[in-house]
Amino acid sequence: MNKTFPKSFMFGGAIAANQAEGAFDVDGKGLSTADIQPYLPNVPKTELHFNNMDSKTFEDYVNGDYYYPKRNGVHFYARYKEYIDSLANMDFQTLRLSIAWTRIFPNGDEAEPNEKGLQFYRDLFTYMHEKGIEPIITINHYELPLNLVTKYGGWANHELIDLFVKYSKVLLDNFHEQVKYWIVINQINLIHFEAFASLGILEDKVANYTQTKFQAVHHQFVASAEVTEYAHKIDSNLQMGVMLADSHTEPNTPSPEDVLLSYKRDRMQYFFGDVPILGEYPQYALNFFADEGIKLDIRPGELEVIKANTSDFLCISYYYSSVVDATKDTMDPGTTTSNKYIKANEWGWGVNPSGLYVCMSKYWDRYRVPMMIGENGFGFNDVLTDDKKVHDDYRISYTADHLKALRDAIDDGADIFAYCSWGPFDIISAGTAEMSKRYGFVYVDYNDFGEGDGKLYQKDSGTWYKGVIDARGANL
Ligand code: BG6
Repeated sequence: MNKTFPKSFMFGGAIAANQAEGAFDVDGKGLSTADIQPYLPNVPKTELHFNNMDSKTFEDYVNGDYYYPKRNGVHFYARYKEYIDSLANMDFQTLRLSIAWTRIFPNGDEAEPNEKGLQFYRDLFTYMHEKGIEPIITINHYELPLNLVTKYGGWANHELIDLFVKYSKVLLDNFHEQVKYWIVINQINLIHFEAFASLGILEDKVANYTQTKFQAVHHQFVASAEVTEYAHKIDSNLQMGVMLADSHTEPNTPSPEDVLLSYKRDRMQYFFGDVPILGEYPQYALNFFADEGIKLDIRPGELEVIKANTSDFLCISYYYSSVVDATKDTMDPGTTTSNKYIKANEWGWGVNPSGLYVCMSKYWDRYRVPMMIGENGFGFNDVLTDDKKVHDDYRISYTADHLKALRDAIDDGADIFAYCSWGPFDIISAGTAEMSKRYGFVYVDYNDFGEGDGKLYQKDSGTWYKGVIDARGANL
């Protein structure tokens, strides 16, 4: 018999509003940045990414004759009870999910919130509690009201701080009795890959792209601190978290150059946790900004707000690890070398469970705050058999290996309170807007064009995951 996970540990999953809800124009919802991401089947999968699209044709994409999968999602807005039931059938204890800013403030800058949007989430959280599923909420997961991009220039604009804080306060006022755990911003560090999704910034629309992105993140830091301050003021029970996509690297060889590059790269990723958790801009980051010619506009009082309102917990998403080779890679996180010791999936994502042990242990050693896994999973083009089964042994072994690595990190002292597997029922992919990149324990019968009857079928991995939850991991 193996060790079980701690008693209070929650097993669950995670989704984002824009990848699941659909109903993009229902009940007063406004258009978001996610709603304009087209489906582009002819672009190679490894290159296909919204931020990699030719930004010169941004307007064409917005107005063009494309299919926009996230406008329909998997109809979670209309069918949330069926989906929550499918998770309850696997004895889920938690679901991390986000709120669509555009349901609450359709254009992001209205004076009053949209009551219909608030009512949807109130009903959803009530239903989740009835089913014994604890909501963990991401306030902003890769979607901005489109108006905040076209009129304000996204998070590069200082005004976004107040607009976001206002939106967050409405959520906290309305839901603090239903929701204890809040993640303010999804993967705040992924500005290199997700500058449009996360910050609402397109490269060709700004003069100095790198500086603009770090300025925008500064605004997110300030906004997060203000939201944390407000949350603690209205309800001291609330737990406010920062989220990072783990981006740690391994040196390609033991050469001093590879080791140094790997270390410096990792530290510039820790930067995104250091500011909200330790409460300060670290010296190595200030030096990096000086070297890169980046000058941040930091206004009076902002550093004090950051210092006084640090995050209560750290949420990590972990899918794969990366290798750096100093002969060709640089400080730019977009440059990596493939790891010849691990296998990659169809989308180039390498599988490395021990990397999860390593990174969680390192985060614990550095921060000493409670942590959770907010995302982990293996996207695969699953096959639904004629008798409506999905035999996804690959997903079982991926999840088992990662859960074992997580348990080892806990055994060695890390305080980790939840594991949320990404997309526990199939949803639209964030990067490629495909339905066929499936992560779920539950198969959702829609194709890339939203066609299909949408019926739900528990995969082999779902039956297996239920067993893990029921045994609290003793059977891993
Ligand atoms: C994370 C995002 O980076 O990766 C999710 O927070 C996303 O929104 C997940 O879905 C998996 O990426 P993809 O592109 O395979 O959906």
